[in-house]
Amino acid sequence: MSFVIAIDGPAASGKSSVSRVLAGRLGAIFVNSGAMYRAVTWAALQEGLDPNDAAALTRWISTLDIECGQENARSTIRIGGKDPEPFLRDPHVNGAVSAISAVPEVRRVLVEQLRRYAQLGNVVMEGRDIGSVVFPETPYKFYIDACEKVRAKRRSAQGETDAIAARDAYDSSRRTAPLKVAQDSIVIDSSTMTLDEVVEAIYPHLRNLGLKFD
Ligand code: DC
Repeated sequence: MSFVIAIDGPAASGKSSVSRVLAGRLGAIFVNSGAMYRAVTWAALQEGLDPNDAAALTRWISTLDIECGQENARSTIRIGGKDPEPFLRDPHVNGAVSAISAVPEVRRVLVEQLRRYAQLGNVVMEGRDIGSVVFPETPYKFYIDACEKVRAKRRSAQGETDAIAARDAYDSSRRTAPLKVAQDSIVIDSSTMTLDEVVEAIYPHLRNLGLKFD
């Protein structure tokens, strides 16, 4: 029986790094759902679409050629055969991704793609709504938080311009699948923890929840 570990949290909380390391140690596929929303945002901007024009985005998304896969146990995405990876953290993508990912039809299309990963094997998936919407039935749900100051520092240490507080406010207040702590999620505040400490803190919870691993 394969498992899905859902890791949600606000921007720059460290959830991607934690998920990547955890997936590597458990031999599971690491799925970065934020990268999917970023890839679609990049494609929409390439197309000249207005991030606030939900009707146009709704029409456009059904025509988009999205190919989600995996390479070396990591999720990949190609759009129209192109790899958007080098552009996913561009400032204009950072600035438009919250608006575009609030469009219900964009979410419907991506949630369908994200659910397919569970058919490929064990998965650690990070995002905003993985425990609440994408895989509500999984018992393994974590919410990785960190105070805003620490998160802003982590992002600028990565050399990025990213208004994380504005993105969090948008992501938490949208109508469809807002960022929130799922009812049965285990919250870990990583503000004063190293990456390894967060990963180590997750193991006993997984065991308590009945997951068997070495
Ligand atoms: O994890 P990230 O910061 O790369 O995510 C970028 C944006 O994508 C985030 O601001 C909101 C959106 N997102 C989402 O709406 N749902 C997800 N499951 C993952 C990301």
